[in-house]
Amino acid sequence: MFWRSSSLALAALAALSEARPQIPGEVLTGTVGNATIAGNSHLPGPDGKYTIAGKGIRANFVPYGASISNLFINDTSGCERDIIGGWDNATYYTEDRQHPHFGGVPGRYANRIKNSSFVIDGETYHVLPNENPEPGSPNGVDTLHGGPDGWDWRNWTVVAHTASSITFSITDPDGDQGFPGEVVSYVTYSLGDMTWDFKMIAIATEKKTPIMLSSHTYWNLDGWANPDTPLALNHSLWLPYGGQRVATDTILIPTGDISADLPGSVNDFWSTPKQIGANFTNPDLLGNCGEGCTGYDTCYLTNREEPYDWRESGPVARLRSAWSGIQVDVYTDQEAFQVYSCGGQNGSVALKSTQGLHGVADRPRVIEQYGCIVMEVEDWIDAINQPEWGRLDRQIYGPESDPYVLQASYKFSLNNTAVGLLGPGSG
Ligand SMILES: *[C@@H]1O[C@H](CO)[C@@H](O)[C@H](O)[C@H]1NC(C)=O
Ligand SMILES: *[C@@H]1O[C@H](CO)[C@@H](O)[C@H](O)[C@H]1NC(C)=O
Ligand SMILES: *[C@@H]1O[C@H](CO)[C@@H](O)[C@H](O)[C@H]1NC(C)=O
Ligand SMILES: *[C@@H]1O[C@H](CO)[C@@H](O)[C@H](O)[C@H]1NC(C)=O
Ligand SMILES: *[C@@H]1O[C@H](CO)[C@@H](O)[C@H](O)[C@H]1NC(C)=O
Ligand SMILES: *[C@@H]1O[C@H](CO)[C@@H](O)[C@H](O)[C@H]1NC(C)=O
Ligand SMILES: *[C@@H]1O[C@H](CO)[C@@H](O)[C@H](O)[C@H]1NC(C)=O
Ligand SMILES: *[C@@H]1O[C@H](CO)[C@@H](O)[C@H](O)[C@H]1NC(C)=O
Ligand SMILES: *[C@@H]1O[C@H](CO)[C@@H](O)[C@H](O)[C@H]1NC(C)=O
Repeated sequence: MFWRSSSLALAALAALSEARPQIPGEVLTGTVGNATIAGNSHLPGPDGKYTIAGKGIRANFVPYGASISNLFINDTSGCERDIIGGWDNATYYTEDRQHPHFGGVPGRYANRIKNSSFVIDGETYHVLPNENPEPGSPNGVDTLHGGPDGWDWRNWTVVAHTASSITFSITDPDGDQGFPGEVVSYVTYSLGDMTWDFKMIAIATEKKTPIMLSSHTYWNLDGWANPDTPLALNHSLWLPYGGQRVATDTILIPTGDISADLPGSVNDFWSTPKQIGANFTNPDLLGNCGEGCTGYDTCYLTNREEPYDWRESGPVARLRSAWSGIQVDVYTDQEAFQVYSCGGQNGSVALKSTQGLHGVADRPRVIEQYGCIVMEVEDWIDAINQPEWGRLDRQIYGPESDPYVLQASYKFSLNNTAVGLLGPGSG
């Protein structure tokens, strides 16, 4: 199979117009767009991270999980903020035992698989469980983010790197974590004028298999440097197409129902922007992110009227902090959007040296509970186990089908309107 997957791999690479194959040992010089590439800048820095830059934006990436590790934007006061969670160096991604899925690409199937099983063409497949252990099921009763050795636990290969883009690749063998057939994937990240774009492609070279990818990035648009709060509860979120969500049980497995996000209810982020923390005192929010959890770990649908052009149909999400003025608008071809308000954080994860308040004794340099927001562009979660949703053609891929494709564009801007500083509920 090797020759076959390799030629498919090259075809996929050619399809990534932003990407330029890297000849090993080659020293890049010259310019790409308006950015100058210094000799050897395609090599990782001493911290093992690869750097790319655009206008007003700079980012670092590590091969582990094809993860974004730093994202720098200047706020309205001109201070540079590193607005995503990550570790200080590439080696620590493997050493860390907590594995928060920090900025990586969960795969080959993001989010949860009910009972760690699915059926394709009448055949039942069992994948490795890794969440919610019980007596009798010591490893868990469901599979989260592709299993105990999912794609964001592995080092990807850097196959291209320019001043403004980087492409990672992974080959996931037949049977790994229990999934059928080999999958070859390419992920390209690129930075433009205050934009972060990504394109993910995955090809099932041998057998039909589920594929769903995402970017699992932790955001705090203040770079955890807001002297008034280490939390993200004052960020405002707007999901203009998010009138419905996937209903889930106590362990966040979809029940098959689709729920309406009624105006004014705790899950209403569509009728008007709302601070993440606006409804935290409402009892309805207890259990909204699983049993005993207050907040959000919720898959909102992004219902756009067909046909639509995802680049033109407006953002599926807007997150803004009035303190830093940093606003991000998320455009994507994906039809669901997971929001996690970091209820599971407990201060065990350190901030990076580029983040937080420095020299303030009473402020631990950690991510507190509710100190971040994870936003994941993806398809309807666990739709492989809900055939009545009619989404199998977007979730099951084989040698005969087109490749899996995910595209997204995160557009940053500075919006220092005072609205949002006035308290919960204000935009
Ligand atoms: C390069 O800079 C020029 C002048 O500032 C600008 O018009 C152009 O859009 C820039 N090109 C890119 C690719 O950023
Ligand atoms: C932030 O502004 C400083 C000073 O103008 C500049 O050197 C730096 O490159 C800017 N940061 C980014 C991410 O553009
Ligand atoms: C790498 O980062 C981790 C986590 O921030 C830190 O504990 C460790 O000391 C760093 N290692 C090096 C060599 O800097
Ligand atoms: C990933 O690569 C780093 C740096 O080479 C290495 O330290 C680490 O052990 C590798 N991790 C895995 C899971 O292969
Ligand atoms: C869950 O999977 C097990 C095998 O792992 C199987 O025996 C059982 O029937 C499945 N349960 C459901 C409800 O599908
Ligand atoms: C905090 O969370 C980490 C990661 O989930 C976990 O390993 C640790 O046991 C938790 N600590 C406490 C005190 O709950
Ligand atoms: C921040 O959020 C808290 C809790 O939701 C709220 O009480 C407070 O008024 C908000 N602060 C600002 C400046 O919006
Ligand atoms: C949620 O917060 C918004 C904004 O403050 C408010 O209008 C709405 O009534 C709240 N909903 C509930 C159910 O508490
Ligand atoms: C800035 O934020 C405010 C408050 O959320 C919003 O009303 C306004 O539309 C935003 N401006 C832009 C240009 O996005």
